[in-house]
Amino acid sequence: MTDRHRILHLSDTHLRHPAVDAEAALAGLLHDARHVPALDLVVVSGDLADDGSAEGCAGVRDQVGRFCAERGIPHVYCTGNHDTRAAFTEVFGSGHLAADGTDRGQAMPGGTCAAVSHVGGLRVITLDSLVPGEVHGELGPAQLAWLRQVLAEPAPAGSVVVLHHPPLAVPTSLIMDRVNLRDGAALAAAVRGSDVRAILCGHFHLQLSGLLAGVPVWVTPGVVTRIDLSTPPRLERAVLGAAATVVDLGGPASPLCHVLHARDPRAGEQVYLVDAVSGQGAADETS
Ligand SMILES: [Fe+2]
Repeated sequence: MTDRHRILHLSDTHLRHPAVDAEAALAGLLHDARHVPALDLVVVSGDLADDGSAEGCAGVRDQVGRFCAERGIPHVYCTGNHDTRAAFTEVFGSGHLAADGTDRGQAMPGGTCAAVSHVGGLRVITLDSLVPGEVHGELGPAQLAWLRQVLAEPAPAGSVVVLHHPPLAVPTSLIMDRVNLRDGAALAAAVRGSDVRAILCGHFHLQLSGLLAGVPVWVTPGVVTRIDLSTPPRLERAVLGAAATVVDLGGPASPLCHVLHARDPRAGEQVYLVDAVSGQGAADETS
């Protein structure tokens, strides 16, 4: 059993998106990731379908599942704010699928989509931060108690936690701390001193790293769009340009994250520019 693991971390696929060909963005990214060697696992950290539908979820499962079947590796999913628990469970079960698509996860009892599985000694824990109808995330006391219970016994190669909403925010952003994980302090208390090696998130559609109780937090860029923070702080610009992260766990620099960008001649092209707080469209006065 090895204590080194390589994860391909995708997020925010947003299939059935009204303004972007999200299916093509995911297909292009997976095609361009085909040469990444030695992958042990693919994780997708939420916002699977833009409309929360089972059809959108199935589209993600089919594309990612094919990539994983060719490599004989498992694939793991968690919910995001665009998802619905009913469609997620219908398509993904626990969210922890084997290379052949069978459900290999152990779901948390009680109606959330949190679950756990093991990949060669690495414990993979998905949390469900979805608050129906809201953009921000929350785990709640029951899920955090379950997490503490799961983490009580260390795993041979440690643990990785996957959830949609980051427990951190860029301090000058006008919006991030309104839409991120509300009970990040409670998550910090749960992982402090545990065997969790990394917390992998999505939601912000940009790459970002920080620490939570000493545990590295990584936010991977979006597949459907990238948020471009070169705008004035009151504006939010989304551009084309699918990306993902390769996360190496267990080496001397663990966790080591590097970003893959899909080859897209339209990368950087604006999808929308809005007022970050009101969400209303904004004039492009930034160029
Ligand atoms: Fe998203």
